[in-house]
Amino acid sequence: MDKVKIIKHPLIQDKLTRMRDVNTDSTKFRNLLRELSSLMAFEVTRDIKAESVEVETPLEATAAGVRVRHSEIVLIPILRAGIGMVDGVLQIIPQARVGHIGMYREPDTLKAVEYYKKLPNNISKCQMVLLIDPMLATGHTMVATLESCRRAGAKNLSIMCLVAAPEGIKEVRKEYPEIEIYTASIDSRLDEHGYIVPGLGDAGDRIFGTK
Ligand code: URA
Repeated sequence: MDKVKIIKHPLIQDKLTRMRDVNTDSTKFRNLLRELSSLMAFEVTRDIKAESVEVETPLEATAAGVRVRHSEIVLIPILRAGIGMVDGVLQIIPQARVGHIGMYREPDTLKAVEYYKKLPNNISKCQMVLLIDPMLATGHTMVATLESCRRAGAKNLSIMCLVAAPEGIKEVRKEYPEIEIYTASIDSRLDEHGYIVPGLGDAGDRIFGTK
């Protein structure tokens, strides 16, 4: 699929399999999600810009190196499940800035309704704005979030999710054909309630132990 990158590294697939397991409790689920988010962030940030710098080592006055401007990278977790991915990404990009967008799915129509938005200043100048949500299901929430970010001036948008449904990818593609989607898996389908099958259940409930 065009502009969809499935990250198939065995460690990522191992952790995803553990997360799918119905017997994995909230504590383990949260830890696995954090670890997976760090590992996936390596792939997602593979092409970010790095500037040349010189550094003094204990042995030599200058050595050529590179430095990434972390603050030009913005993470936007979609509340609430996206919060579970933030710490993992920050572990490898500690000075990245974090915005928040809150969306809920209207139960009858499955349409997304925005209830919270706080984004960093100068988002239009950032070299990467990464929307994070464990599940890309119907795609309605993701498209609404992309629209909201675009309205705020964000340009270099990408998506990182753990599991994507073909329906969700299609929905995002319809409106945003150019946006890169990074995922660990494309699952079979959505069920009648908009859950991904086989998926991993309700990610928010499993992260926060609310069911
Ligand atoms: N959100 C979830 O948490 N799980 C799904 O399967 C779909 C949407």
